[in-house]
Amino acid sequence: MRIGLLGHGVVGQGVRKIIDAHQTSATAAMSVVRILVRDQSEITDERITTDPEEFFTTDMDVVVECMGGVDKPFEFVSRALSAGMGVVSSNKKLLAHKYDELQALATQRQVPLAFEAAIGGGIPWLHNLALTAQVDEVESFRGIFNGTTNYILDEMFTHGQNFDDALRGAQERGYAEADPSDDIDGHDVKYKTVLTANRIWGVSVPLEQVPALGLRHVDGRDAKWAAAHGKTIKLLGMARATNQGVMAGAMPVMLPANHLLAGIHQNFNCAMVNSNNFGEAAYYGQGAGMLPTAFAVVSDLVSVQALMVQDSFALAAPGRTVVAPMWQEAW
Ligand code: HSE
Repeated sequence: MRIGLLGHGVVGQGVRKIIDAHQTSATAAMSVVRILVRDQSEITDERITTDPEEFFTTDMDVVVECMGGVDKPFEFVSRALSAGMGVVSSNKKLLAHKYDELQALATQRQVPLAFEAAIGGGIPWLHNLALTAQVDEVESFRGIFNGTTNYILDEMFTHGQNFDDALRGAQERGYAEADPSDDIDGHDVKYKTVLTANRIWGVSVPLEQVPALGLRHVDGRDAKWAAAHGKTIKLLGMARATNQGVMAGAMPVMLPANHLLAGIHQNFNCAMVNSNNFGEAAYYGQGAGMLPTAFAVVSDLVSVQALMVQDSFALAAPGRTVVAPMWQEAW
């Protein structure tokens, strides 16, 4: 499988490293043949180009998008799908903003558009949810979907570090977005929540109707109150299917200290789902960082590879679209 990489930042480099290492039979059958970057890279690699035409005239089966941002990646991903190439993306911002357009293009061209890495880093969350949704009715899900803010909260509450130092630590470890306000203000969690809801319920949740509150809504008084009452503050993404549509939101929540999500530390994420037969289930793992996120990208590539072997590219999600009502008070 010939792979083109869009972006060579933290995730892109991780994907290249895993594939170049050819440690498994699946990755041995993959090769990264071209890498498109915005600006000349400090890394020397003959596959790297800044020229989109050179990139798109390369013979490729699948394009991996991990550029970040919306406009340029949208142009490139649309071009790849239109040309009949499968796309694997870790870019939740792009996918949440352009979900309908990209999904429609993938369905029309009958090519896969996979984005396991966009939510929960290395956790096989969408994969497992898709399986759950085939057997069960999914009622709701909630979880910690942002490694940066979980790391910051953990450093502040457990280790007494101040906010700025904790944020710097998350940036140094490659958890934070290029613009960390997406993490801190809850937008990143909102994108991941909306994408998960879209995928499992076959809906198209309007992004602008979903509230996002971030860590700026938490101050020392909250921390003190939480500590005095045996509680912990976590930034959660939550969604529930109701008769009126899907409710979704991202916000800091006070949890009892013995709650499963209260015990999630550092960059780890934990996603919990409720479905009517299985009941409650939880998925846990590293939600941010180079290799955990790249792991999820490569796991999507393995699924695409299996489709290529079957000579069938029918992975596109169902196209049912319903409009979600405004957030209601039901939590
Ligand atoms: N900035 C994101 C996080 C990266 O901290 O979770 C992984 O999506």
